[in-house]
Amino acid sequence: MKNIYSNIFTYNQKNLNKCILALERGNVVGVPTETVYGLAGNAYSKKAVSKIYRLKKRPKFNPLIVHYSDYKKAGRDVVLNEKFFKLYKKFCPGPVTFILKKKKNSKIYKLVNGNLKTVAVRFPNHKITKILLKKIQFPLAMPSANVSGGISPICAKDVAEEFKKKIKFIIDGKRSKIGIESTVIDLTKKPKILRKGIIDANKIRKILRVEYIKKSRIINSPGLLRKHYSPGIPIKLNQKVCKIGAAFITFGNKYKDSKNYFNLSKNGDLKEAASNLYKIFRKIKKKGFKQICVVKIPNKEAGIAINDRLLRASK
Ligand code: TXA
Ligand code: MG
Repeated sequence: MKNIYSNIFTYNQKNLNKCILALERGNVVGVPTETVYGLAGNAYSKKAVSKIYRLKKRPKFNPLIVHYSDYKKAGRDVVLNEKFFKLYKKFCPGPVTFILKKKKNSKIYKLVNGNLKTVAVRFPNHKITKILLKKIQFPLAMPSANVSGGISPICAKDVAEEFKKKIKFIIDGKRSKIGIESTVIDLTKKPKILRKGIIDANKIRKILRVEYIKKSRIINSPGLLRKHYSPGIPIKLNQKVCKIGAAFITFGNKYKDSKNYFNLSKNGDLKEAASNLYKIFRKIKKKGFKQICVVKIPNKEAGIAINDRLLRASK
């Protein structure tokens, strides 16, 4: 397909260098990860971090995740504890974000973590982004590359459509394999999952005790307070049939092919379903539907994260 977006760049040495230069100058760029695409800037730079908040129209109290190539670099900014190393060994690089104590001498610009005493850190598992993070001398503050509250982008084109010409550089890293944001886990006290993701509590429990955060305490992750991940159309969950004129999000092989039916996974594969969720949201929005009905999705494994996003999107 022809690239009609002048700010999407294919990955090669020359373009990687351009991207690095832009970041060194305090600009923000669109970067692929295995979960979703990020809006990346130098986490040590006031200019870059302020730009991220401005572009995303993100409230200042909602902190950003800081991305590193490896734990040694992260150790300059946060206190790495024993629980962290256990999970790091098993899951990193990968779709998990750790909340850890910020070091006193950390260079992370204070707005990144909303002036909190903690910082969210992640080690993404995407070929291009791993190379990029190794080459630069600073970590990347990188929220999902969508305007606050909207659908996270899973390909370069989604990012270009989200911000139009407001960002000058997006690296094309093909479609994000996982398609749903990382699991966020607080390791500063008793381990708690603040945001559900592909790495669910059962997987983590093989390594250490962990709980899901209770609703009343959700304040621990400011970004999880509001309505989120929303296509901006009313969504009805757990539907057996589709309302007239609505888009129907289905799962499994018992549904026919129809203009208004969008199957998350015909094979009933929950991982595949997670990777299709945001793509289908965008498609439905583009087609101009005014309502969405969704069938019941099994609440296990990747289905836990899917149901979490559906519930938030329906609020
Ligand atoms: O998969 C991902 O995590 C993607 C890719 C680009 O890495 N990033 C992402 O970032 O989803 P964002 O900004 O859309 O979501 C970050 C979440 C928010 O809910 C935020 O409130 C929470 O992490 N968070 C960040 N710092 C935190 C902190 N210090 N304490 C508690 N929660 C924090
Ligand atoms: Mg986000």
